[in-house]
Amino acid sequence: MEVAGTIEAVRTSVKAARRNGKRIGLVPTMGALHVGHVSLIERAIEQCDFVVVSIFVNPTQFGPGEDFAKYPRPVEADLEICANAGVDLVFNPSPEVMYATESLTWIRVERLTELLCGVSRPGHFRGVTTVCAKLFNIVLPDVAYFGQKDAQQAIVIKRMAADLNMPLEIVVCPTVREPDGLAVSSRNKYLSEQQRKEAAKIYKSLRKCKEMSKAGVTDAKEIIAAMREILEQIAGGEIEYVSVVDSETLEKVDEIKGKVLVAVAIKLGLARLIDNIPV
Ligand code: PAJ
Repeated sequence: MEVAGTIEAVRTSVKAARRNGKRIGLVPTMGALHVGHVSLIERAIEQCDFVVVSIFVNPTQFGPGEDFAKYPRPVEADLEICANAGVDLVFNPSPEVMYATESLTWIRVERLTELLCGVSRPGHFRGVTTVCAKLFNIVLPDVAYFGQKDAQQAIVIKRMAADLNMPLEIVVCPTVREPDGLAVSSRNKYLSEQQRKEAAKIYKSLRKCKEMSKAGVTDAKEIIAAMREILEQIAGGEIEYVSVVDSETLEKVDEIKGKVLVAVAIKLGLARLIDNIPV
């Protein structure tokens, strides 16, 4: 496995792979790799011949007062996980490499980024789309892999790629969960033992939604109320949103029909936890 810190090194390796007719897959990450990331890497390895994982804690997607400084950066462990998974190339640039010049160019996907997480994290998605566009331009992958865990992010990236005619496919992989249902996340590390137990109620609320929908309930208000009842039992938790939205436009819907996304964001201790299920 090659580890590259510069854009030139990535370009040289990817060019060689492409010359050999290889299909290039990219898995963008911020490191602190866990089984959720590994599921994306495994999918990339299945579908591609040359897999690149980027590990970059992107400063431009963190707001003031967010966890940029304390975001975990276990580089050695991450490299070992990548090597064991069969990754071909890890791109692990410094902020100076990724943002060599002061950026005057930003990608802003309208509307989709102003809803859900965009309300409490203004500027977050602008950082995500800009860094992903940079990564796509550096690696030039045929396919890039994202997780359903961050559903809004995946939808925004898909829209950016479509709107800007980016020549790549975006694949979204299912959310990997802990045995109690909590979505695996690097930020779960911020939870105390007690908070970690409480956090399982997030998935419990999503399961409740699924059950109600299966039983024929279509009224979004009714479903949200039942979910809130469960989420309000999270000791020390603060509900940021519980929303039933159209899975393409992310606009709120009153009734579950067609494809909707049920999404939740909760502040718990030092963590902000998000989760969702497509219904
Ligand atoms: P990060 O939080 O490291 O996540 C990298 C990718 O892993 C994202 O596509 C995310 O949705 C996916 N992922 C995280 N937890 C998952 C889980 N439990 N199951 C399935 N997939 C999961 O998301 C980012 O980094 C950044 O915003 C990035 C796209 C790299 C841009 O900086």
